[in-house]
Amino acid sequence: MRYRTIPRTDIHASSICLGTASIGSTLNEADSFKMLDTFVDLGGNFLDTSLNYADWQCEIKSVSEKTIGKWMKLRQNRNRIVVGTKGGCPKPAEGRFFRLSREELEHDLQKSLSNLQVSTIDLYWLHRDDPSRPVSEMIDFLHEQVIAGKIRSFGCSNWSVERIEEAIAYSEAAGKYGFCANQMMWSLAEPNPDGISDKTLAVMDQATKKYHETYDLAAVPFSSQAGGFFGRALSRTELEKAKPSLGKYFNDVNFGRLERVREVAGEIGAAPSAVALAVLFAQPYAVYPIIGSRTTEQLADSCAAGQLRLEEKTARYIETGE
Ligand SMILES: NC(=O)c1ccc[n+]([C@@H]2O[C@H](COP(=O)([O-])OP(=O)(O)OC[C@H]3O[C@@H](n4cnc5c(N)ncnc54)[C@H](OP(=O)(O)O)[C@@H]3O)[C@@H](O)[C@H]2O)c1
Repeated sequence: MRYRTIPRTDIHASSICLGTASIGSTLNEADSFKMLDTFVDLGGNFLDTSLNYADWQCEIKSVSEKTIGKWMKLRQNRNRIVVGTKGGCPKPAEGRFFRLSREELEHDLQKSLSNLQVSTIDLYWLHRDDPSRPVSEMIDFLHEQVIAGKIRSFGCSNWSVERIEEAIAYSEAAGKYGFCANQMMWSLAEPNPDGISDKTLAVMDQATKKYHETYDLAAVPFSSQAGGFFGRALSRTELEKAKPSLGKYFNDVNFGRLERVREVAGEIGAAPSAVALAVLFAQPYAVYPIIGSRTTEQLADSCAAGQLRLEEKTARYIETGE
């Protein structure tokens, strides 16, 4: 597994980040610990969780953070793990789509510190934006938390590139800490324009890529495997039938990419899911794809991307066919 220091931080993180929305919920505690142990055995250290994982399906609130906290305590490995968690999470069931006031962020941060049983969070994410709130308010708050030692760094998730630019420009002008990373939906498969029902999710686009390149901003994409679109040994017809939930990725461009992923995977002797992830690494800025693994076998398969690097022309061929 390759490691890379997140620019503008001293955080040395594995190039694959393990998503933990299923930890403690879909996966029971024993299976969650096994998943986390396997990730560490495979060389990983970077975890992505959130205060609200997986409140939509579990009676125990923040079960992902709590399970990770328990695991780190039992394994005595807190100092070897890079924990990223999110605050300011919307609560749509309560009609609260924006929760980014100082009071709400303070509340969320304290809860996450307690759930994770840590004194510092390595990477604190704002889960969403509130475009009506000045960026200065949120940056000032997060800057103070770095100074206070409650977080080491911070980033944004599902923000527009315009607002990211504004926030970074503000932090630089004010001489304060700023966003060190951006979390967006991005994989080798492009979702269909009407395929994403949650309109609050930000999808990687050309303008965002350009900004990452110009500012050397780390990208930490979620749904980076397109829900396993590239990992199944099925024909197009079989996949369409077997996994209608992947319908948002069903289009000619993506099936062309799938064909070329398989071709390159065969040539270099790698798993197709690892090749699809490796295409994301072929950027001039740091990329840490967040993977969602249901089994430890999938985890091993995907983590193989951690040491796989493709030549630029191979990545371009997979993407464009040229
Ligand atoms: N910031 C945000 O707003 C946000 C939003 C969503 C997610 N996230 C984060 O991202 C994480 C992952 O999200 P995701 O579940 O959408 O990611 P994903 O990796 O794109 O999809 C996960 C699914 O892909 C399939 N899969 C995984 N590895 C595979 C392999 N090697 N071969 C074949 N299939 C494979 C599995 O599907 P099957 O179960 O069908 O086998 C698995 O459930 C979450 O846990 C969370 O941490 C963040």
